[in-house]
Amino acid sequence: MRYLTAGESHGPQLTAILEGVPAGLALCAEHINKELARRQKGYGRGRRMQIEKDEVKITGGVRHGKTLGSPIALVVENRDFKHWQTIMAVEPIDDEAEVKRKVTRPRPGHADLNGALKYGHRDMRNVLERSSARETTVRVAAGAVAKRILEEVGIRVAGHVIEIGGVRAEKLDYRSLEELQAVTEESPVRCFDPEAGQKMMETIDWAKKNGDSIGGIVEVIVEGVPAGVGSYVHYDRKLDAKIAAAIVSINAFKGVEFGIGFEAARRPGSEVHDEIIWSPEQGFSRRTNRAGGFEGGVTTGMPIVVRGVMKPIPTLYKPLQSVDIETKEPFAASIERSDSCAVPAASVVAEAVVAWEVAAAIVEQFGQDRMDLIKENVERARRYAKEF
Ligand SMILES: Cc1cc2nc3c(=O)[nH]c(=O)nc-3n(C[C@H](O)[C@H](O)[C@H](O)COP(=O)(O)O)c2cc1C
Repeated sequence: MRYLTAGESHGPQLTAILEGVPAGLALCAEHINKELARRQKGYGRGRRMQIEKDEVKITGGVRHGKTLGSPIALVVENRDFKHWQTIMAVEPIDDEAEVKRKVTRPRPGHADLNGALKYGHRDMRNVLERSSARETTVRVAAGAVAKRILEEVGIRVAGHVIEIGGVRAEKLDYRSLEELQAVTEESPVRCFDPEAGQKMMETIDWAKKNGDSIGGIVEVIVEGVPAGVGSYVHYDRKLDAKIAAAIVSINAFKGVEFGIGFEAARRPGSEVHDEIIWSPEQGFSRRTNRAGGFEGGVTTGMPIVVRGVMKPIPTLYKPLQSVDIETKEPFAASIERSDSCAVPAASVVAEAVVAWEVAAAIVEQFGQDRMDLIKENVERARRYAKEF
């Protein structure tokens, strides 16, 4: 499975084309809209999230509530476009005043300057319209389709926030993924620990008041993936590597770790590797899951546990120095409107991109074309692993 997206932040719409989704998967707009709404929630988000409720239109690949096996086309309109029709017009415009309103002041930390250098743009709107995280809307839509595939084969995905602006969730004693999902869904910062969640919100308020922004860490857990998914035979077949790339491809994500992650550098091997156990009921299993569900790029059958670190949002009210690309004059980059923290929303994006990679691996390994055959084959793989 693969997908491409197109569309600008203030253009008419965002589009995603999903190829390779198996036939016979129950899918309707509601499955996707539910996830789009989750992405739009979150403490610290700006006005756009409130004015613009995203809704998907499925314009190809689904008939009578079931996928056809043909490419799936998803469209999300930018409702704000009505205010941008001239600035973002596809056809040439002759309104001189609008043409002159170029963005010539690059923001440190965003793609503005590098993008302009790369494509030869003197109006950096041509860069920021696409590098904006608005694009993650349709990545979440694609992830919602992936989640449907995973649901059919008994695989569950949950994401939550474990750190914002240096405040870390300490109490993470959830008993099941369902409990983690239920609690974090009610938290404005998607945090399981209510005390930490409260402090996170206070830190976001502090950032907002000071015209600053803050980042954090999100975690995604995938349960129910059979052992043996992915491969160790080539770099581009390792499933942990694909998931790592997917996480770092999210706007503002700068690092990724599995299981105990970077902590592994500080511990001896005896406190890092997961001992292998066996029982007639479970077959092979692990005493611990410090590896976060992978050895050799292949799933162990334990939950996949992956974390991503998000840097603070680059657009700040508080000025940072930059240089105008036309006048070459230094100026303090300040703007009118931005979020101060998007970590809760980013945890929904992280769920989506991880779900896509896992679903793609399942489809590739267990049957490709038909959902019913994939389901049978996944069950067969589970039985095989148990009896191995
Ligand atoms: C959900 C989400 C929302 C974001 N919102 C903003 C925003 O409002 N303003 C901003 O400057 N950057 C925002 N970003 C981050 C930028 O898109 C990102 O920093 C930029 O594309 C440069 O890419 P890089 O940080 O990955 O190098 C957001 C990122 C995510 C994941």
